Amino acid sequence: MSASVLVAYATRAGSTQEVAEEIAENLRESGFEVDMQPAKKIRSLDPYKAVVLGAPLYMFHWHKDALNFLARNRQLLEGKPLAIFALGPMNRDEKEMTECREQLDKELAKFPWLDPIETELFVGRYAPDKLPFPMSLVTKMPATPLKDLPPSDSRDWDAIRSWAKKLAGRLMPTKS
Ligand SMILES: Cc1cc2nc3c(=O)[nH]c(=O)nc-3n(C[C@H](O)[C@H](O)[C@H](O)COP(=O)(O)O)c2cc1C
Repeated sequence: MSASVLVAYATRAGSTQEVAEEIAENLRESGFEVDMQPAKKIRSLDPYKAVVLGAPLYMFHWHKDALNFLARNRQLLEGKPLAIFALGPMNRDEKEMTECREQLDKELAKFPWLDPIETELFVGRYAPDKLPFPMSLVTKMPATPLKDLPPSDSRDWDAIRSWAKKLAGRLMPTKS
């Protein structure tokens, strides 16, 4: 019998949702039943044996829907395997990856009870035209380096798939 996994996500411009879809699909291929939903819409974790939570970093912070999800579900999450991923840097530069990982670690440190089985940072996409207001304004401000940055998509799908496969292996013991 397959175990049920929730893939909860938050997004502004859609790239994290696409990564969540890819992870969900890979978990399905590994034999899990997967339910994928926006983190802010989830009301109960009871049906799930494990949870994957993914969200982007913006302005040095993790998406508030992901932070709220953790705050809201502490009790239930303490009893289930939880895996976390974030989208952040817009290129694969090592220094930037390290800085963004520090941002994520700082955000997760707000939840001292948190003990994820996996935490991963993926390179993101820069799509200013897809950003909703008011974040879209940030990319147009005269002082921001984003102003002259061309749109780009540096997501590493091989890294995303191999993380999902690794996750499937780690979640196997929870299958009943
Ligand atoms: C205005 C703006 C601010 C951002 N700030 C950060 C940041 O502080 N740290 C980071 O790692 N990535 C940052 N990013 C990169 C986003 O996390 C990346 O574009 C991600 O793929 C967006 O996810 P989404 O498409 O799901 O909203 C920023 C992007 C934009 C457009």
